[in-house]
Amino acid sequence: TVNYTQALRGQFFDITQTGTRPDELLANARHHEDGLLFLNDGIIVALLPWEEGCLHLRGENDYVDYRGKLILPGFVDTHLHYPQTEMIGAYGEQLLEWLQTYTFPVESQYQDSSHAAKMSAFFLSQLLSNGTTTALVFGTVHPQSVEALFSAAEHLSMRMIAGKVMMDRNAPDYLTETPEQSYTQTRELIQRWHKKGRLNYALTPRFAPTSSPELLAAVQALREEFPDTWLHTHLSENSAEVEWVKSLWPESESYLGVYHHYKLTGKRSVFAHAIHLQDCEWDCLHRTESAIAFCPTSNLFLGSGLFNLKQCHERGIRMGIGTDVGAGTTFNMLQTLAEAYKVAQLQGYRLCASEAFYHATLGGAHALDLDDKIGNFLPGKEADFVVLDLAVSPLQKMRHANSRDIFEKLFVLMTLGDDRNIWHTWVNGKCVWTRDTLEVAA
Ligand code: GUN
Ligand code: ZN
Repeated sequence: TVNYTQALRGQFFDITQTGTRPDELLANARHHEDGLLFLNDGIIVALLPWEEGCLHLRGENDYVDYRGKLILPGFVDTHLHYPQTEMIGAYGEQLLEWLQTYTFPVESQYQDSSHAAKMSAFFLSQLLSNGTTTALVFGTVHPQSVEALFSAAEHLSMRMIAGKVMMDRNAPDYLTETPEQSYTQTRELIQRWHKKGRLNYALTPRFAPTSSPELLAAVQALREEFPDTWLHTHLSENSAEVEWVKSLWPESESYLGVYHHYKLTGKRSVFAHAIHLQDCEWDCLHRTESAIAFCPTSNLFLGSGLFNLKQCHERGIRMGIGTDVGAGTTFNMLQTLAEAYKVAQLQGYRLCASEAFYHATLGGAHALDLDDKIGNFLPGKEADFVVLDLAVSPLQKMRHANSRDIFEKLFVLMTLGDDRNIWHTWVNGKCVWTRDTLEVAA
């Protein structure tokens, strides 16, 4: 017998094992046209085909009826900035000018806790309305920015990793701190929030150019003191940035070498972008089991370059998808996958639907070292998932009717889909967002 508190009936798709080879992913893809998912207090107990599952129901209709909908594991966004929500779509600049012109002025507002609280609520409802249930998030330099975000995420029981930005040079005075302040304030936040419920802390030096050697030494000290925290930063996004790092750190053999020198590589280290890498940097990422966040909409929007997905796979490097809002242009993972496909196309690599959805779910969880907790419907996983409407427009309906199998349906979903396709979002065994009400229901 199955011991359950809730059951849901619908169409299900997930990938049951980590890996990156498309043939392996296909072999581990699981699809139930008509399935029954059993939950017990927010934890997945079983996913069975209807004919088998219905024998375990306590009553004939003892399930939430999602027939006609597709249920996927909740999306995992491995890199974005919540304070940049309000400046998404800023015109005309590449990375370094974009930071000076748009980003830093907006981030200054997060010294105000009430602004941070208001924007945290808005940000989380954006994630949920796009089916994203876990994210690795940048705050601003102000501890109150992260305080507000963690409080709001705790309220929703979301599995969330975030951190306060650490930076002490090459940014306006109003956003810089001393290494000592950075150390003390970060330490306080770790003690307050790391491993509190489903929340985790990421040490968040912005990137090498805004870090002095002393600041990176402070990050290293914190990582040694709290080895199970995450490390989240940017790496080799833009050519001018790479040149700048060379001039600031002439003794380092590479950009990644700067972080590696302070022992900031490793499992649970997540580097956003990684576009302009030397061979030795790919090797180092692999050796240290570090992860990359691939952010296609951001890379195209800022004209940063094309991430080399093929190389990433050949080297066996952990990788997840990031929206990178607000340089990225959407919170929506379907649209982000569509752009990832095009970035791969431009380099002669074919990103199939099972691989794309793997990256958005279990692969992202693996990049964040959370694949034992989230990412698919295996027993023991936390019940975070998204209920999708496969066809919400006349065009989608027509194209959907012309699709042969689940893989074609998924590919069309990522190519034509957007937030209208997100019907319900469940977090920790509770429906926290529904399209019918267009608001956070929790
Ligand atoms: N590099 C350093 N800071 C940032 C940021 O806020 N956004 C992006 N895309 N790259 C960065
Ligand atoms: Zn970023």
